[in-house]
Parts: sequence; structure tokens; C-alpha cells
Amino acid sequence: MKLKDDIFNELAANKGKDISGQELAEKFGVSRNAVWKAVNELKKDGISISSAQNRGYRVSKNILSQRELEKSFPKEMKLFYYESTDSTNSQAKRLISGGFSSDAAVVANEQTAGRGRCGRDFYSPKDTGIYISFIFHPKKELADAVFITTAAAVAVLRAVERLTGANLSIKWVNDVYRDGKKICGILTEGFTDFESGTLESVIVGIGINFDTAVFPESIKDRAASLNAAGITREELIAALGEEFIKIAYNLDDETILSDYRSHSFIIGKKISFIKNGVSEFGTALEIDGRGGLKVRTQDGAVLTLNSGEITVRAEE
Ligand code: BTN
Repeated sequence: MKLKDDIFNELAANKGKDISGQELAEKFGVSRNAVWKAVNELKKDGISISSAQNRGYRVSKNILSQRELEKSFPKEMKLFYYESTDSTNSQAKRLISGGFSSDAAVVANEQTAGRGRCGRDFYSPKDTGIYISFIFHPKKELADAVFITTAAAVAVLRAVERLTGANLSIKWVNDVYRDGKKICGILTEGFTDFESGTLESVIVGIGINFDTAVFPESIKDRAASLNAAGITREELIAALGEEFIKIAYNLDDETILSDYRSHSFIIGKKISFIKNGVSEFGTALEIDGRGGLKVRTQDGAVLTLNSGEITVRAEE
């Protein structure tokens, strides 16, 4: 391992605390000048390290690190950690395209081009969010893709509720809400084998506003943070890993759908949605066995939405 990685890991294991250059130099058997150079390299990599004479070096108490994450993350999945990346979903895609074929989780402290559904951006500031993409190989058909997304929302609910007791709800298909505002979005992308029609690999990207305080103007009325006192991002990332693995390897478990249904806040509500490029109004009736949303349209027809997005209309 390079000196800069050793130093980063040491600072990350003591986050929020000062460590002197002398201490680091002694620990790794190098000169103080070598420590100074390595710290500068880390800074160039975008890692915020504060340094002051007579005090030493320190990373923020919010920093994540591969080593700390690996301590608690489930061992079934390989973990890839990035201090900053464009998008963990895009990074996961690059891993798959490069021949990586196992299950894994890609985590970042910051996304510079976080992607949301329907071609939107996902606001992904450093230090205050959780950005994680799971790569897995469910051996399901393309038609099951909506269910995988449904299942991922349940994994988020279970992880957050287990650690914090917070009451969350789901807006079909996979936005997780707390107190009427969105705290988490999920973007599922798949690689399909066209001959067999099966999903070869699936990337489930989950973004949680952990303790982001300020949102851009365009989303500030709709977005909120989890703000769960007493838990760390590492703990929630580990819990997400555990719950996701339980669900992803047991997609036929009936409790997935029952938990999803019991947390869904749209049933009976008036909604609008886009079908074949046309905006329509209707009433949300139920979540079907595959995670699709049954809707009664204004002319009384019942149809099932398997993808796309709905808007809940204000009650007249
Ligand atoms: C949405 O609400 O529209 C979906 C947002 C999904 C965001 C997550 S953050 C981790 C992963 N990487 C991305 O670029 N997007 C997903």
C-alpha cells in the first residue's frame, strides 16, 4: 500500500482528531517531509484534510474510508469505495463492462454527476449523503425489473427503521419519504441478455440524503434529510448492505411485497402519470404481485403501470 493510503487510513480511523506529522512519520517509518508530501497528494485527490502547525493533520468526522466501511459491511459483497466519482451507477457499469462479474457494492462520498430517474440529476454533495450502487445477478426476466426496484425500496425502509425507528413511506415506485418529503431515490439499471430475455446483471443505485442541510432551490421544497441522531453513515451503509443482500437473494419472499404495500402512501390517492407520452389522470388502486401499480383512469379503465413516474395530485 502506498504511504498516502496508509496515512489516509490512519487519519480516517481517527476522524475528527489531530495527528501530528511526527506521529505519522514514526508510525510509517518515514520522514516528516514524506508525510507532508503524501498529505498534499491526498489533498490533490480532493480529500479535505485540515492541517495546522503544532496541531497536525485531521480529516473531518464525516469522512468515509474503504477500511472503516469494510469493517462492518457484509462480507458477501466486495466493496469499492471512492472519495469522489461521477456516479456510483456509472462506476458500477464501468466495472461490469471491464469484466467484473461478481456481486458488489460501489460507494462514494460524493458524486459529481449523480443520476436520477427519467434523465434527471441527483444532488450528491460530499460528506452528507449515502451514494451506493449494488451490482447483482438475479437470474430474473426483464419483466421483473420493477419488482427489483420495489424490493430495493423495502431494503432501505428496513435498514433505516431498524437503526433509527423512523417511520418512512414509499411513493411508487421507489421514492422513500419521511414526513412528506423525499429522503431517498433509487435508480435501477440492467444489462439484459437479448436472446434469453433474462437480466444478466442489475445495478441498483440508492441515494439517501443523510444529513444534507441545504438543497438546491429546484428541490428544496420536496427534499429532506434523514437527520437521524446517533447513527453514522458507515452504520447505515452496513445495514443497507445486510438488508439488500437478504432481499436480493430471496426475491420470492412474500414479506417484501407486504412491507412495500404497508408503507405505500399513494393507494386511493388521485394521481397523474405519463403513458405512451400522454399525461393522464387516475386513482391509484393497488400494488400488484410484481410491483406494478394498478390505476383506474378517468374514463373508468383499469391499467397497470410497470415503469415511469406518478405525481400525487392535491386533494380537491
Ligand atoms: C431518483 O430519485 O430519481 C433516483 C436517484 C438515484 C440516486 C442514486 S445515488 C447512487 C446511484 N448513483 C447515481 O448516479 N444514482 C443513484
